[in-house]
Amino acid sequence: MATMRLDKFLADCGCGTRAEVKKELRKKTVSVNGKTVSDGGEKIDPDKDCILWQGRELCYSKYQYIMLYKPSGCVTAVTDRRHKTVMDLLPGSIHKNMAPAGRLDLDTEGLLLITDDGELVHSLLAPGKHVEKTYFARIQGRVTKKEVQLFARGVDIGDRDPARPARLEILEEGPESRILLTITEGRFHQVKRMFQATGMEVLYLKRISMGSLKLDESLGPGGYRFLTDEEVESLKKKENIC
Ligand code: URA
Repeated sequence: MATMRLDKFLADCGCGTRAEVKKELRKKTVSVNGKTVSDGGEKIDPDKDCILWQGRELCYSKYQYIMLYKPSGCVTAVTDRRHKTVMDLLPGSIHKNMAPAGRLDLDTEGLLLITDDGELVHSLLAPGKHVEKTYFARIQGRVTKKEVQLFARGVDIGDRDPARPARLEILEEGPESRILLTITEGRFHQVKRMFQATGMEVLYLKRISMGSLKLDESLGPGGYRFLTDEEVESLKKKENIC
């Protein structure tokens, strides 16, 4: 890889905007090959130089991967004329071409992967891949073993084909129930329609995992963080991307 400016490298690694990076450089918390550096214009070679940011070694990545805890009330889109989008919640330093991998409804919360790695997005969303997505939900109505069995067989949600078999776990059964549901498709309003088919209504919906990726519960709604290398590797391994 060719040499590049240190401040661009740091911004690309998700350390912050160029301005934020400059501020941090002034605090003398960045080193290149063991030498403290405060000039963002310094040229570095990401393949050869060892860059420490606040004591942590940074690896240059062609792509960026962000886990967002999507709050209710913002749309899963890159731009929208009426609502705040999930992209509005992210730092200004993120790569161009970043986009959400999949879609959550306006009122759904939880795990959303945002990346510019199109190959990974494709393999996570391709209908034939059947990547597992797990949701926590509060349901208006008593969810019982009957729904567990119905969902396991594949419930008719009004499309040409019934929903694929899904795993329903009841956490609390009552006039209002709490459940976990794992599905392997991503049809429009799928979870809501599965419960509608049983005469029940989803009151609250939150995605807690997608493939091997689990929502980091230390993030609050609207919070985000970059994926660790291990999380990226395990997502790719699970989806057979090298
Ligand atoms: N199922 C739904 O009904 N809504 C979502 O946002 C995600 C899955």
